[in-house]
Amino acid sequence: MNSGQRSVSLNPLHLSADQMRALGYRVIDLIVDHFESLRDKPVTRFADRAFLEQRLREPIPEHGADPAGLLYRIETEVLNQIMHLDHPRFFAYVPGPGNFVSVMADALAAGFNVFSGSWLESSGAAMIELVTIDWLRQLCGFPETAAGLFLSGGSIANLSALAIAREIKLKGHNAQATLYFSDQTHSSVTRAAKILGFLPSQIRVIQSDPDYRLSLADLETRVAEDRNAGCFPFCVVGNAGTTNTGAVDSFPEIAEFCRAEGLWLHADAAYGGGAVICDKGRARLQGIAGVDSLTLDPHKWLFQPYEMGCLLVREAAWLGETFKIISDYGKDEELGDQHINFCDLGIQLTRRFSALKLWLSLKTFGLGAFRTAVERGIDLAEFAEAVLSECSKCEVVSPARLGIVTFRYAGGGKRSLKVLNELNRAIVFRLIEEKFAMLSTTELGGMVVLRFCIINPATTQTDIRETVDLIVRLGDELSSEYPD
Ligand SMILES: Cc1ncc(COP(=O)(O)O)c(C=O)c1O
Repeated sequence: MNSGQRSVSLNPLHLSADQMRALGYRVIDLIVDHFESLRDKPVTRFADRAFLEQRLREPIPEHGADPAGLLYRIETEVLNQIMHLDHPRFFAYVPGPGNFVSVMADALAAGFNVFSGSWLESSGAAMIELVTIDWLRQLCGFPETAAGLFLSGGSIANLSALAIAREIKLKGHNAQATLYFSDQTHSSVTRAAKILGFLPSQIRVIQSDPDYRLSLADLETRVAEDRNAGCFPFCVVGNAGTTNTGAVDSFPEIAEFCRAEGLWLHADAAYGGGAVICDKGRARLQGIAGVDSLTLDPHKWLFQPYEMGCLLVREAAWLGETFKIISDYGKDEELGDQHINFCDLGIQLTRRFSALKLWLSLKTFGLGAFRTAVERGIDLAEFAEAVLSECSKCEVVSPARLGIVTFRYAGGGKRSLKVLNELNRAIVFRLIEEKFAMLSTTELGGMVVLRFCIINPATTQTDIRETVDLIVRLGDELSSEYPD
């Protein structure tokens, strides 16, 4: 066959170039329309199971169908039944403001089906991951001995960090080992400890101080008590931006204590870590450069589409010591220490090329644009705190910290805690019905609070004001159902 000819494909999964272009352009149009119309879309949308069963349950298709028609179904029956975590008025949980450049990078990574497990199979991709990880290392102030890798998200990064801490500190002697963190720590840490085989009796959850931070004095006491009782304290997990309130534990002091006691210190900066790129955020995250390992999710405050987490460790060798196992069929991939096989640094062998999206978006927009975007979230949360403080019906419960402010609708009456808790939960359900904005609740010391998490750079002050006004209106409307 000369190069001008095309063979008739025998591949049953083949599309012609024209068919691929038609499908691809339609997909791009859908995505661009989504970005362009997002602000005008309803923030909240979800359907109940019966409704979706009726529309989407069907037998496995033996024969194919036109992708254009299927795309229409995806648009109307699937993508219209999701909340938009990237909407400028989505303030619940941790929002997911992405960016178009990274979406395209994900398409490229999938299109070329890059295998980011070994140098031999994807040397260019491995180099981009090394470079991008090194940028994050520098931003976090880690030493040059540090290394890291991209993972699916914070849960897997926290799991990997605890696996490394266990390997390095315990060498398999787990029975007496104890680990420590505050009651504000993300549930993924407890889950990680459970997966790794630690029993509830080995986990010390320390009550946080009035600022929702780990109390060093209580930590010291618990560690000393445990040593006296024959336990083997080995690891502390600190929070660099709790999901509840954005609180940051006092890393400089905790790190000093951990060093003196020979304890591993892991920082969960999955949410807050992105703030390290701006002055205000870096000041809040003081001391994170001194930890042994750190979780930071680019799919949170570095504006990347899901799934993208990151783990950094202080000494590159710890990753290999924990995870490297060479299989019989993988020996030709051993090209020497300089040629990193990322599959040796973590849990996954087959890995997607996530680094590309962070690399391409940082190169396209520049760190300065990311910095401005992060600063915006920090400033808007402070603005929200000011608006809430002026509102006679609301009470600020925790001040603006790393983009999060918590409060409750109190209505000016004298309702009991129980009634106020129910009322504030009810407000969220009404918000979901209204579709204008989305906030979620959390609990602080038995109090149900509403939580603004403001990290979307498209959010405006008007969005905040209108959302507070709506919450007050809904609270007022619900008040008669929740009497004093
Ligand atoms: C502080 C913190 N740690 C860990 C996680 C878990 O991250 P992921 O959902 O990416 O697994 C979250 C998620 O919100 C978080 O806020």
